[in-house]
Amino acid sequence: MSDDHTHVQEFFGSRAADWDRRFPDDGPAYAAAVARLGLREGDRVLDAGCGTGRALPPLRAAVGRSGLVVGADLTPAMLEAAVRAGRDREGRLLLTDVAALPLRSRSLDAVFAAGLVAHLPDPAGNLRELARVVRPGGVLALFHPVGRAALAARQGRQLTPDDLRAEANLRPLLAGSGWDMTAYDDEDARFLALAVRAG
Ligand SMILES: C[S@@+](CC[C@H](N)C(=O)[O-])C[C@H]1O[C@@H](n2cnc3c(N)ncnc32)[C@H](O)[C@@H]1O
Repeated sequence: MSDDHTHVQEFFGSRAADWDRRFPDDGPAYAAAVARLGLREGDRVLDAGCGTGRALPPLRAAVGRSGLVVGADLTPAMLEAAVRAGRDREGRLLLTDVAALPLRSRSLDAVFAAGLVAHLPDPAGNLRELARVVRPGGVLALFHPVGRAALAARQGRQLTPDDLRAEANLRPLLAGSGWDMTAYDDEDARFLALAVRAG
């Protein structure tokens, strides 16, 4: 277990039980972001860093019962909270690091990742691993229900030019990891970057 893993598990482990209660009004924002993936009945989708599985119900609704929904997370307590909330009925939960997914190459149509990228120790390598499991033409959504500036203000920090999710940084990061960025929205009430798996 690396220091990065331990830190993530401690940080989110202590927040897991209250996670959904802290953010009770986010459901529509998650549903709207999932809609931007353009999923179809029968598609196969991964929620990377799924936490308590808040995105799993809209993902399941989008792909239907014939589709595949997988939620992957590194923090056992977050997945336990997902099970308590019944979200294991919406998708298969995997306790795993997104840096090394137990999934076949090109086996998925899309990846949804909410609140994940800022916590990755090796963003380029980890985004490349997400690209590995998605077919060419498949889609990635990097989402947060709060925009970058509003989140920084909430956390009492300044937004700096080296911020990973700034458009000027994210576009080349994605391009170097197998993804072509196709949309970028950073508003107070939402951060959403979309990318397509390069052929
Ligand atoms: C900010 S929370 C977001 C949880 C959920 N996606 C949501 O929107 O409510 C980030 C989640 O990413 C998970 N995570 C962080 N690094 C990870 C990694 N390398 N592999 C898998 N999950 C990771 C954490 O355990 C945590 O549950």
